[in-house]
Amino acid sequence: MNLKLLLPLFLAFALAAGCAPEKKELVFAVGGAPSELDEWESVIEDFSREKGIKARLLRQPTDSDQRRQGILIPLKARVRNPDVFLMDIAWIGQFAASGWLEDLNPYINKEGYDLGKFWKNILDSADTFGGELVAMPVYIDAGVLYYRRDLLEKYGVKKVPEHWDEFIAVAARIQEKERAQNPKFFAFVWQGAQYEGLVCDFLEFATMEGGGIGLSGGKIKLDTPANRAAAGLMRDLIFKHKISPPNVFTDMKEEEARLFFQSGNALFERNWPYAWGLHQAGDSPVKGKVGIARIPAFPGRSSVSTLGGWHIGISRFSDAKSEAWEFLKYALSRGTQKKLSLALGWNPARKDVYSDPEVLAKYPHFRALSEVFSGAKSRPQLPYYTQVSDVLQRYLNSAVAAKTDPASAFGSAEKEINAMMERYK
Ligand code: GLC
Repeated sequence: MNLKLLLPLFLAFALAAGCAPEKKELVFAVGGAPSELDEWESVIEDFSREKGIKARLLRQPTDSDQRRQGILIPLKARVRNPDVFLMDIAWIGQFAASGWLEDLNPYINKEGYDLGKFWKNILDSADTFGGELVAMPVYIDAGVLYYRRDLLEKYGVKKVPEHWDEFIAVAARIQEKERAQNPKFFAFVWQGAQYEGLVCDFLEFATMEGGGIGLSGGKIKLDTPANRAAAGLMRDLIFKHKISPPNVFTDMKEEEARLFFQSGNALFERNWPYAWGLHQAGDSPVKGKVGIARIPAFPGRSSVSTLGGWHIGISRFSDAKSEAWEFLKYALSRGTQKKLSLALGWNPARKDVYSDPEVLAKYPHFRALSEVFSGAKSRPQLPYYTQVSDVLQRYLNSAVAAKTDPASAFGSAEKEINAMMERYK
């Protein structure tokens, strides 16, 4: 064939290919336990197929702090990926104050999207900043106590202990007996490693005594009798009562505690609702033997759970915002929320999933959990919360590890945080 004839054809083809707008691929960043990531892979696949939008999952680690770092770096650099991501409820203030989150109100108003399906108090307190709706909840977390029903029965304990003194006595007695067959047995596992989860656990111990992260006159107050008592009890569980293993303060995050309990080596576990589905999974050694209850309280006080949970937001720097909005709606649709809840035991952000008969049949404890949620306490919504938490984590971990006494740990943490806040002003 004549080459001269082929050339214009070739040029036309190359031009057409070069000029055609490249189809955008949506990048969704999410972390979590491996089972959670697998479920998100399947949501992303369904979304792409049903909506005809190319989308990819950016897999992040399990640890909340590492997940934050992974998203913070591209946002600080104002790069366009990831377009959409899950945020811990604890980071939203910082992300919003930094101007990294797209305001969802214009999308909502344009389409008349119904926000009535979500808890207004959560949207108002966690997702709204300066009048902008910068995120939406995907699932809600609150700390709960898992227990081995079979072991409590075996030792004649009729009721899950509601107060710490009774809890410690039951735990120590059963631990001693169980050790005869299983030298690895420890009665109680929780999150004590130096990371955000430690602060969540601490706030549960502290808030029920009236403590927590105090704020007055622009200053943080940490060294209080309630906080000292809380950190003292956390330390004593390991060193005095010896019902929690020493690696609580070195290694234990959510997954470490869950695996320890799930392998049959513990009586009690403090964790989030996601652990339920995994404890009850087909291959779990504790399947059918687990119960869920409220975290014990100090005598005369009521139990408190920390409010956690993950929220979805769109990056201001995304070049695929309308696709990201489509994905956000898909993640919050009744179908996806039900699927995630059934597969993972998550507590959906949508209220209508709680009355779904299939969900209630699988998770009868959801009814009781909604009570826990209504009393759950959030962490302070400060733009610099994560920096406050980083300092607190360091001193708190040292107190729990019995390296520093609680009074000097909180005194030093308070000083360092207030000096840091002065610099921010
Ligand atoms: C859970 C909670 C989150 C919390 C984190 C701490 O993921 O949902 O709010 O910060 O645990 O590890």
